[in-house]
This record gives sequence, structure tokens and C-alpha cells, in this order.
Amino acid sequence: MSQLAIETNSVNLGQGFPDYDGPAIIADAAIDAIRSGHNQYPPGPGIEPLRRAVAHHNFGYYGVNYDPSSEVLITAGATEALASTLISLLEVGDEVIVFEPCYDSYVASIAMAGARAIPIRLHGPNWNFDLQLLQSSVGPRTRAILVNTPHNPTGKVFNLEELKQISNLALENDLLVITDEVYEHLVFEGEHHFLASFEGMRERTISISSAAKTFSFTGWKIGWVTAQPELLAAIRTSKQFLTYVNGAPFQHAIAKGLDPELNLIAEAKDALGPSRELLIGSLERLGLKPLPTSGTYFVNCDISSVTKDDALTFCMRMANEGGVVAIPSSVFYLDREGSEHYVRFAFCKRTSVIEEAVFRLDSWLN
Ligand SMILES: Cc1ncc(COP(=O)(O)O)c(C=O)c1O
Repeated sequence: MSQLAIETNSVNLGQGFPDYDGPAIIADAAIDAIRSGHNQYPPGPGIEPLRRAVAHHNFGYYGVNYDPSSEVLITAGATEALASTLISLLEVGDEVIVFEPCYDSYVASIAMAGARAIPIRLHGPNWNFDLQLLQSSVGPRTRAILVNTPHNPTGKVFNLEELKQISNLALENDLLVITDEVYEHLVFEGEHHFLASFEGMRERTISISSAAKTFSFTGWKIGWVTAQPELLAAIRTSKQFLTYVNGAPFQHAIAKGLDPELNLIAEAKDALGPSRELLIGSLERLGLKPLPTSGTYFVNCDISSVTKDDALTFCMRMANEGGVVAIPSSVFYLDREGSEHYVRFAFCKRTSVIEEAVFRLDSWLN
């Protein structure tokens, strides 16, 4: 068997999607929307009830008011929101500061815009960054800082002080800040802070989120952007030629899901609690050294105490010999030096699946 082939009966703790559905009431709303004829192109900016629901959500959770008609855009997931933001707001040769490790679409979308990603490293085990290095990385071509909090793949939730440092830097240097907040409602320790609510930041922050993680419907690809009208109009222009629109019936369903009266937003996090505890506790017991994780449904392990393999080799062996799939976190770095001992496990899986993974890991490691 080729070394790159992975056993198909592996337990997959690699990719970040739940192996269960989100709330039935939201699924039913999508079926109702299909049956009642919401099957043609929706309006370019997204259906009005969803734009209103997003504005209401951001005001309710973070106290920031957005006009649904000029400051909210519905997109094909956060991925398209990021791509249209970066493509529309960057010029060729611009630089965007990203915290690495980082979600893989950032570097690709920045490159599609003809710009360059400048990585600032989050250092394990606590995923701190060097403020001086961040400050000195701002140059004449820096246009934006991209902040993902809660952060994939580390699980870091940026704290208030760190976000103040980032917003001060943006204000002092007239930079845009693009936030990727798709895990905003999956915070287990600490608190999620909305950067656009910081003093002076609403005008320069493009806030991006999505229904994928909040409601466990990753395949529906309903995301959104909120930003002041001038920035949003530019983003809408590039979105128009990427997908134009998507997911008409799902937009109706997510508008319902965001209704505060239904109280559905806490469900995903509550459902994850037992799997999170089970996986982190078991990894610890197996000597895989799970690192601190405060948000998202990921935990990284430092594998250096159990192997001399690099993360990629270890993950290939773990899949082929142990029957468990995880992701070598080195793939999330621009410069892989020093990242070769981190492996990311996802716990958005049923507890029975995590138990099976732990059983297999135990037999494989011992
Ligand atoms: C940090 C981050 N941003 C964006 C996305 C993609 O979100 P969507 O499915 O809404 O495009 C993901 C999905 O894994 C993610 O981890």
C-alpha cells in the first residue's frame, strides 16, 4: 500500500465537521422553505430576513448596530466572505498580517488578490504572540490584519488585552482589520470579544461569521459579512462575480435559527462538552500532551514525548497503523520550522466515535 493511502475504515478526528446534524427545527425550516418555493436566486445581498437576523444577532451579543440594507452581506460560507473581502479590498503588492498557524484559505485568498501574507507566530503551548514583532511587521504596504478568534487550529480565544493591542496598532497605522469569528459561539473558557465593538474600530473592521459551526450545518455554506457601507459595497461587488448568490432555502432556515426566542445558539456548544472532556482527558492519559484550548472544537497535542517522527509522518502512521485520522498542524504554517510536533484533533464527533478513537490510539501507542 502506498504510504499516502489512508485506511478507509479509520476513525476521522481530522476534518472539522460534526458527525451529527444541527437542530431539527432549523432542518425543518429548510425543508419548509424548499416546499414553499424559495428555490430561485435570492437577492444579491441575501434575503432580508437573514440580513435583519444577522444585524439583530450582532447587536444582541455585542451591542454593535448594523443597517441590514447597507451593512450586512450574506455569502457562501465564511470562506467566500473572506475571499470577496480580500479580493475587493487589497491591491497587488499589499501585505496582510495573519497569525500562524492559520486556516488554509487565508493564504490562498490573499495570493488570489495578488497580495502577500505576513505571518506572526502564535507560540505553543499558550499560543501567545510577540507584540513587538507584530508592531514591527507593519510596513508601508500593510493594508490589513486578519484575526481569527476563536482560532483554528489552536483553539486560542484572543483575550481583551491582545485584541486592544491589535486594534491600537490598526488605529495608529490606519489599517483594516478582518475578523474571522466562525467559532464565536464555541467558547469554553474565557469570553469572545467582537473587535468591531472596540473604540474607533467599527469603521475599519470587516467582521465575518457563518452558520456552519454555530448550528452544525457545515454543508449549507451560509456565511455573512458586516462592515460599514463603503467597505461592504466593495465586498459585494467581488462576491457578485464569485458565486453571485447561494443557498436560498438555507438562508430562510438560518434566519429562523438566529431568532433569539428559539434559544438555539447555545446548543452546539452544549452538545460538544462531553466529547471535549472525553477527548482531552484521554489524550492526556495516553501521554499525548494536549495543549490549552479555550474555544473551537479542536485540540492540539505535542507529540514530541511519544515519538521522534514529524507531525506528518506521525499522522500517516497513526492513520494506517492505528486507524485514527488527525491533522499535522504543520500544514497550517507558512514556515513549518518549529511546528513539526503539533497534531490537531477535532472533537466535534459523537462520544462513541471518540471512545473508539481512544481505544485504537491506546492499542497503537502501547
Ligand atoms: C477559521 C475558519 N474560518 C472559516 C471556515 C469556513 O467556514 P464556512 O464553512 O462557513 O465557509 C472554517 C472552517 O473550517 C474555519 O475553521
